[in-house]
Amino acid sequence: MYDIAVMWDWIGFAVRWLHVITAIAWIGSSFYFIALDLGLNRNIPGPADGEEWQVHGGGFYHIQKYLVAPERMPDHLTWFKWESYATWLSGAALLMIVYWVGGELFLLDPTRADLALWQGIGISAATIALGWLLYDALCKSALGDRPTAMMLVLFAIIVAMSWGLNQVFTGRAALLHLGAFTATIMTANVFFIIIPNQKIVVADLKAGRTPDPKYGKIAKLRSTHNNYLTLPVIFLMLSNHYPLAFATDHAWIIAALVFLMGVTIRHYFNSMHARKGRPNWTWAATVVIFLVIAWLSTANMGDTWEESEARALTPAEARFVSAEGFADAYDTVLGHCSMCHAREPVWGRMMWPPKGVVLETEADVARHAGQIYLQAGVSHAMPPPNAVQMDPEARAAIVRWFRAARG
Ligand code: HEC
Repeated sequence: MYDIAVMWDWIGFAVRWLHVITAIAWIGSSFYFIALDLGLNRNIPGPADGEEWQVHGGGFYHIQKYLVAPERMPDHLTWFKWESYATWLSGAALLMIVYWVGGELFLLDPTRADLALWQGIGISAATIALGWLLYDALCKSALGDRPTAMMLVLFAIIVAMSWGLNQVFTGRAALLHLGAFTATIMTANVFFIIIPNQKIVVADLKAGRTPDPKYGKIAKLRSTHNNYLTLPVIFLMLSNHYPLAFATDHAWIIAALVFLMGVTIRHYFNSMHARKGRPNWTWAATVVIFLVIAWLSTANMGDTWEESEARALTPAEARFVSAEGFADAYDTVLGHCSMCHAREPVWGRMMWPPKGVVLETEADVARHAGQIYLQAGVSHAMPPPNAVQMDPEARAAIVRWFRAARG
């Protein structure tokens, strides 16, 4: 049965699969080169800056690093750039699928900002582009020569952005957009700065000119930023699976703190790979920040039952509430889902609605129509079979209602 909702869900899965694979390739090669660079043995004779022996997969590798380039350009040169570009392209596609096409559900939060979908999409695209423009201008300003000050200003921008995004989008979209904002800076560093500079150096060498060492310095600053931004980005990309991280009033502070953990964790590994000891205090700092995050996450979640009852439905929600079969479907959900998916669940020792999905009021059910259809109508993912039995007629009622509403 190939209907649009089913195919769309599969397209989302396929693009997510691709995105995770490309991100592994990018972050993997970037971590490899950072560790390699820090660990080079620099006490060697000859023109090379450093070298390293490595063993992997049954062979020994002898790697040498040349600061600018070797005397003669090799015929074959492997570039590392498509890992980064492919991660950004697949990530942008996934963001569009989940937060633009699925904007009514995942992007817009009428209790925070009363936006039309096109306005939300406009803000989404604008913030992502804005991050890079702002960051790049800062790097090229006088701050570019003061790495520590630059890092602090960058952190301030991220905190401000985190707060701003949480004023207009759902918590889930806000955290994801903060991740996309940061990841775009990282890929743009590769695309607009690191690779073009590298190309200038290669062209100079081929023409027999001595390349200006400033290009290496610029690239180094940008890669250092990328190094410290990687871990927070991955946290933010995963955060949409954890409502405790995104569905609280403190989500924007949590997101900001994650960037500090990114620094403490990377500092440990950077020191270790550079053979400068093991600064174990960083783990204590990381654990403290993590506990603060867990504590902040228990603050108020989402709207109250009264607020949900009182608010006006969006046009898409209204379509689902007025569709034929809504009364049956709503009864089915109340009977099979609401014990768990409630603002205060009554099932077992459940403390909060799973995945932040609340299904109590008519507005709640209309808002999650697509998910209810996929989880309990088309597939049998919900309810968990050991908790509640749901007969085929109840599932059929959900399918009938969803299809009637969609027309
Ligand atoms: C016994 C408790 C329970 C009941 C009853 C229940 N759910 Fe769930 N639901 C869960 C849990 C737990 C999760 C989180 C699963 C996970 O972590 O992957 C979840 C997740 C979900 C999600 C989010 C899936 C995702 O990956 O984002 C949806 C949508 C959902 N349920 C819909 C429903 C519907 C519709 C019903 C009723 C037909 C229902 N649930 C009944 C416990 C329940």
